[in-house]
Amino acid sequence: MAKKYTVLETWIVNTTKPVESTSAEQTFDRMDRQGGGKLPVIDVPIEYGLEDHFLDEARVRDFAAHLGGAQEVLDVGPGDGWPLLRIAPLFRAVTGAEPAQRRVDAITAGIEKLGLKNVTVKKVSPTEFDFPDNRFDGVVAASSIEQSPDPYKAISEVFRVLKPGGRFRVYFEPSEGRERELTEGLMFTETADALGYHYSLKHSRPPWERDYLVKFANTPETKEEFRKLRDLVDRLGPSPSTNPEIGLQFLERNQAAIIGASFYELEHFTSETMRETLEEAGFVNVRITWSAATLARTIWPRLKDVALTDAQAQAVCAGLADLSVRLDAPAGLGEPVVATKPS
Ligand SMILES: C[S@@+](CC[C@H](N)C(=O)[O-])C[C@H]1O[C@@H](n2cnc3c(N)ncnc32)[C@H](O)[C@@H]1O
Repeated sequence: MAKKYTVLETWIVNTTKPVESTSAEQTFDRMDRQGGGKLPVIDVPIEYGLEDHFLDEARVRDFAAHLGGAQEVLDVGPGDGWPLLRIAPLFRAVTGAEPAQRRVDAITAGIEKLGLKNVTVKKVSPTEFDFPDNRFDGVVAASSIEQSPDPYKAISEVFRVLKPGGRFRVYFEPSEGRERELTEGLMFTETADALGYHYSLKHSRPPWERDYLVKFANTPETKEEFRKLRDLVDRLGPSPSTNPEIGLQFLERNQAAIIGASFYELEHFTSETMRETLEEAGFVNVRITWSAATLARTIWPRLKDVALTDAQAQAVCAGLADLSVRLDAPAGLGEPVVATKPS
């Protein structure tokens, strides 16, 4: 199927000649913090009276419940340490495989800050994990498989490093529920070498994503231009196709300061295509189950005015996680998948 190009994209491709990159290099190695720097426990103290913190705890317990007694666990693409640092107290040893150096540095700082003794983080190539076969007895992934330049290779690497009988619990950014055909996104980054203009396009059916980075010289003039641009995006929203002031006009006016550009493409999954892909990779007992966080969200309206102690909140989340292991979810809702490597 032909992929549509927006006017802005065509300009970027023709004018800046972007070189092919990866999400790790182009996006995650340039971002400051993930989750807006507000990840419970990792960035801020957890408060179970807040819905997003309660849901976070449910997701953490979900990983533990689905791995069924695993002790040596791998987290693929932990970003700033999620769920790696959160699940560490629930297992004997956890290892993160992360291709972006800046994220590895963030995790290393998190390990130190939280005083965790059973966490290792390893910088890996986006296509090969440098671990021996059958190394781990459980693997988790959150929004990372689909960030790989080759998600099928990433899944085969998970299969390879998992022990026979071990389970893989995978959360992904679901392409279900994307309402519009084509959704644009903008993000800005600053590194010592450049100011980054990141333009992304997400397509719903079939689900794919293309991301561009246009790098500008980091000078006081371009900094001022980016400051004004951010204000405009706050006011207008992140759609350069409907607002050329934040797209074509900005890039044309500042064209002389462009010092390079890159792009990458991603393939996204639905719960059903993730299930099929895991089966094709050799996994068995592949099931879409309700996320414990979805279950937590449904009971939250009844709970939010009850002052639970931390221990009570954790026990509720652990109970929901146990339920999630037994509760298959229908396809089409973007719920996570669990799979087993055959013994
Ligand atoms: C959207 S972030 C998710 C981070 C974290 N798991 C979370 O849920 O907050 C995706 C992460 O996957 C990493 N990543 C990209 N390509 C990868 C690959 N081929 N293998 C493993 N991780 C990858 C990125 O560097 C990034 O840290």
